[in-house]
Amino acid sequence: MRSRQEWRQARVIDIAHPTEDVRAVTFAVNGPLSAFDPGSHTNIRVMIHDAPAIRTYTVLPSAPGTLKIAVKLHPNSRGGSAWVWSLNPGDVTEMTTPENRFELSWRASHYLLIAGGIGVTPIFGMAPALISGGQSVRMIYGGRSQAQLAFRDELETLLGDDLELFVEEEGRSFDLDAEFSRLPLDAESYVCGPIGLLNASKAAWQRAGRPMSRLRFEVFGDSGHYGESAFWVEIPALRKTVEVRPDQSMLEALLQSGVDMVYDCQRGECGLCAVGVLDHEATIDHRDVFFSPTERAQNVRMCACVSRAPGGTISIDTGYQSAPL
Ligand code: FES
Repeated sequence: MRSRQEWRQARVIDIAHPTEDVRAVTFAVNGPLSAFDPGSHTNIRVMIHDAPAIRTYTVLPSAPGTLKIAVKLHPNSRGGSAWVWSLNPGDVTEMTTPENRFELSWRASHYLLIAGGIGVTPIFGMAPALISGGQSVRMIYGGRSQAQLAFRDELETLLGDDLELFVEEEGRSFDLDAEFSRLPLDAESYVCGPIGLLNASKAAWQRAGRPMSRLRFEVFGDSGHYGESAFWVEIPALRKTVEVRPDQSMLEALLQSGVDMVYDCQRGECGLCAVGVLDHEATIDHRDVFFSPTERAQNVRMCACVSRAPGGTISIDTGYQSAPL
């Protein structure tokens, strides 16, 4: 069960490579589309292991009537990124009309945009919108190497000195405390990147004494869902045990085995997919940004869409009952 979406037929019309490991795919979409909304995302029907699945990707600016996504190829991927990388011009699938849960507020005196790796995709749409709206913007953007900074040239042209790059290979990283301490009181920051960056941003924002309503963040792509090892999930109330393969999220495995689940974002952000943990022999690898560090340490609940228990067995209560007919 997830929020209502409008599915449209979509045909691949262009493929480009902003970096060696990032592929940008543009789809011509049947039916009217609203104007590009920075931070929005679309859901795409993909095939994984010959089974249909849904993946969610940020929408990039593109021509009217089209939707464009950029997807990093994850090593050994057998999931959504591998499927996107298998597409050719003319291939047809279905996509939802964009939704936005990472919207610009348009109420701040200054915007600090922070991108880590392929988390640049929503930020890449926000920067030009803010600039053309006459807003005060600074962006910091980090990646492993210069070659892996997708859309760097476009962002340098757009932002000039208001863009600062941090490259791990060159020994540079963000100083979030310094960045946040310089901001005006009513500034906002928008962060997209790996979970470590998001949690560090939340902690630094709180240390700076800033209201959490002015820090907005999004976990990127589907990189947080998968793991190196399988694990097993027992659901005593249903008398079921479900194997979660390395290339599946726990949510996907539960749904595929017929377990009713409530979910939405599939990025560890909304908390709708949270299940109760009754017992766990394996260490739980919490990968969400929904629970607080204290709640994660308690191991009482976990987000099924991203969190895992590699190599072991956990026992859960899905806490979801279908409405009686
Ligand atoms: S579906 Fe939103 S946190 Fe899992």
